[in-house]
Amino acid sequence: MVIRVAVIGAGPAGLCAMRHLLARSDVFEGVCFEQCSKLGGMWIYRDNALEDENGVPMLACVYKNLKTNIPKEIMAFPDFSFPEGLPSFVPHETVLQYIQDYAEHFNIAGRIKFKTQIERVNPVKGDNSEAVRWEVTYSDVVHRENRTTELFDAVMVCIGKSMNPRMPDQPGQHRFEGQIMHSCCYREPEPFRNQAVVCLGAQMSGLDLAVEISSVADKVFLSHNKDKLTTVLPANVIEVQGIKSFNSHSVVFLDGLEQPVDSVIFCTGYENSYPFLTDNCHVNLQSGSRVTPLYKHLIHTEFPSLAFVGLCKMVSPFQIFHLQTLVVLAVLEGKLTLPSKEEMDQDTEKDFREHLASGLPVHDAHSLDDRQWSYNDKLAKLANCQRLPRVIEKIWKKYQATYHENTLTYRNMNFTRTSDESFDMVYQNDISSNL
Ligand SMILES: Cc1cc2nc3c(=O)[nH]c(=O)nc-3n(C[C@H](O)[C@H](O)[C@H](O)COP(=O)(O)OP(=O)(O)OC[C@H]3O[C@@H](n4cnc5c(N)ncnc54)[C@H](O)[C@@H]3O)c2cc1C
Ligand SMILES: NC(=O)c1ccc[n+]([C@@H]2O[C@H](COP(=O)([O-])OP(=O)(O)OC[C@H]3O[C@@H](n4cnc5c(N)ncnc54)[C@H](OP(=O)(O)O)[C@@H]3O)[C@@H](O)[C@H]2O)c1
Ligand SMILES: *[C@@H]1O[C@H](CO)[C@@H](O)[C@H](O)[C@H]1NC(C)=O
Ligand SMILES: *[C@@H]1O[C@H](CO)[C@@H](O)[C@H](O)[C@H]1NC(C)=O
Repeated sequence: MVIRVAVIGAGPAGLCAMRHLLARSDVFEGVCFEQCSKLGGMWIYRDNALEDENGVPMLACVYKNLKTNIPKEIMAFPDFSFPEGLPSFVPHETVLQYIQDYAEHFNIAGRIKFKTQIERVNPVKGDNSEAVRWEVTYSDVVHRENRTTELFDAVMVCIGKSMNPRMPDQPGQHRFEGQIMHSCCYREPEPFRNQAVVCLGAQMSGLDLAVEISSVADKVFLSHNKDKLTTVLPANVIEVQGIKSFNSHSVVFLDGLEQPVDSVIFCTGYENSYPFLTDNCHVNLQSGSRVTPLYKHLIHTEFPSLAFVGLCKMVSPFQIFHLQTLVVLAVLEGKLTLPSKEEMDQDTEKDFREHLASGLPVHDAHSLDDRQWSYNDKLAKLANCQRLPRVIEKIWKKYQATYHENTLTYRNMNFTRTSDESFDMVYQNDISSNL
């Protein structure tokens, strides 16, 4: 009897799940459901920020000038490289092409039900065994009345984490007569020409948008509540504190500074949501983003046949998708025996307490950063597969340090992996080959 697995989403995470399910077609039958007509997830560029070509609400996608923020040498899936001859930081079109090539190479596209949206996922007890199975209801996004319910042995949720923008509600916000938008709707700098713009939040989106927009805007206020940035910024990007309140044509920052402003872009990140999971799934969300009860940010501790691939932040995502998928398959196949639910929950709580103790907020519970290396090794051990080579951690540390020094130029670095332990790096004209 094959193990039937429903994979929700055909972005990089869902495609990775399918790639490994197909590699073991003696054991698994994977069916991938994708609401759009194409594979690629948020790497598909759309001018329309609100919906796809079939009217399905879509929120996150790449913007026009987006280049990767991770060098391709450590961004790629471990079993599929980017083509030769490209710089390390590539435009989004190159990533979409890479994802399409991956899907083609592993023969995945034929196994995807496109224009099919998952509407409901519900656990059901089997007749004679205790094993839970999953009722999965999906509909055709064009002909909604065309709706089907099927049983699966397992569900892999691979829907990304960028469908739900986090929208702050600051005092006086409704009074503001300028434009307010979320970074997910940003496509290009031109509409902000000659404006005074606030970018709220100074992670990747905030920094990238502030820099891009500063090329045409009068000035950009990069507003945030974190420590002062160490990076070089363009002269007309002014770092200021977080937003205290809005007036009709101005914004007041937390230190009392008030500035006339035309547009405010909330670069405030995203929340998770799983509208198709019934209450019986016992999935909870804390602070909009922390999903519980999950073992290793991945496996539901009460229903181990329900997995969430792709929750981790501040990581090299594709590589983690690969390792997470192999862990899920090992569990489903019975090659990996998980600890008891109590032990798994304790493990998760211990990890979460450490996370909080290091000063990070609840909504960043799945943010790993420096913890990703031990996490990756743990996944490789659980899956009994090859761990990621150390060179990945070394390249990550090098490019992150350069990013924090100079966000304007770090994408000029080119990396070459010379072994599993070492790399060469070229940065503008300055050649350093060491480490
Ligand atoms: C602006 C931005 C820039 C980024 N830049 C980088 C980068 O440079 N490098 C990098 O490695 N990562 C980057 N990331 C992280 C990015 O999230 C990952 O690269 C990757 O796309 C995540 O893949 P995913 O498959 O988890 O999710 P997604 O790519 O979001 O794909 C999820 C898919 O699930 C489908 N789906 C959702 N709900 C349903 C449903 N109910 N039924 C059927 N289908 C459904 C969606 O249509 C979508 O196709 C960036 C993220 C953002 C937001
Ligand atoms: N390839 C690229 O160049 C590129 C470009 C953009 C984004 N990305 C990727 O996209 C993903 C999302 O990045 P992101 O920058 O959009 O989101 P993010 O990493 O979640 O960052 C959001 C930031 O906004 C802050 N914030 C939230 N609410 C706030 C408020 N009310 N006031 C002040 N600050 C607030 C958050 O701080 P707290 O957490 O403290 O609240 C956080 O620092 C990441 O994976 C990133 O790498 C990549
Ligand atoms: C990086 O590589 C690309 C492609 O080979 C090349 O065009 C570019 O000049 C390189 N950059 C540096 C700094 O060497
Ligand atoms: C829609 O109907 C066709 C033909 O009856 C069927 O093959 C297909 O799977 C259906 N799609 C969905 C999403 O139920």
